[in-house]
Amino acid sequence: MLSNKMVKALNKQINNEIYSAYLYLSMSAYSTFKGLKGFANWFMVQYQEEMTHAMKIYDYVNDQGRQVKLMTIAQPPTEFGSPLEMFEKTLEHEKFVTKCINDLVNLAVREKDHATNIFLQWFVTEQIEEEANDNEIISKLKLVGNEGNGLFMIDKELATRVFTLPTASGESQT
Ligand SMILES: [Fe+2]
Ligand SMILES: [Fe+2]
Repeated sequence: MLSNKMVKALNKQINNEIYSAYLYLSMSAYSTFKGLKGFANWFMVQYQEEMTHAMKIYDYVNDQGRQVKLMTIAQPPTEFGSPLEMFEKTLEHEKFVTKCINDLVNLAVREKDHATNIFLQWFVTEQIEEEANDNEIISKLKLVGNEGNGLFMIDKELATRVFTLPTASGESQT
């Protein structure tokens, strides 16, 4: 049984995940406009992943017999600067999401809500991966270059990312 406080917090996290999807869709559109097809692809896959995060929580709230209540999705920025700046903004956003997930876990622990605590563990692990991915790309952009040939190479690499639906265990197949 979820407490009202927990339901409210989970509904807020659904909103955070959909906002994340919206933000990355905006970055994808920006990348396409700038002629960076690989970046556009990477952010489009990220958009799809974030939607699966939102739906995971959506399903959980439903499964617990509580009501999902959707909220307004804030407008994302539309300008992101250089590719490096865009990924720095991505990392910054993921750090914010990590904090939100940690706050949710803290709430579950305080409420002695073991089911939600276990449910949230997948997100705790996922956030480590999200931040690691962003850090890796930021390092590459700093190393190989934020423009010219280096950027072209990274764009080609990011073009290879494919979206895979998370498996039953919740791990995405990469
Ligand atoms: Fe997410
Ligand atoms: Fe994320």
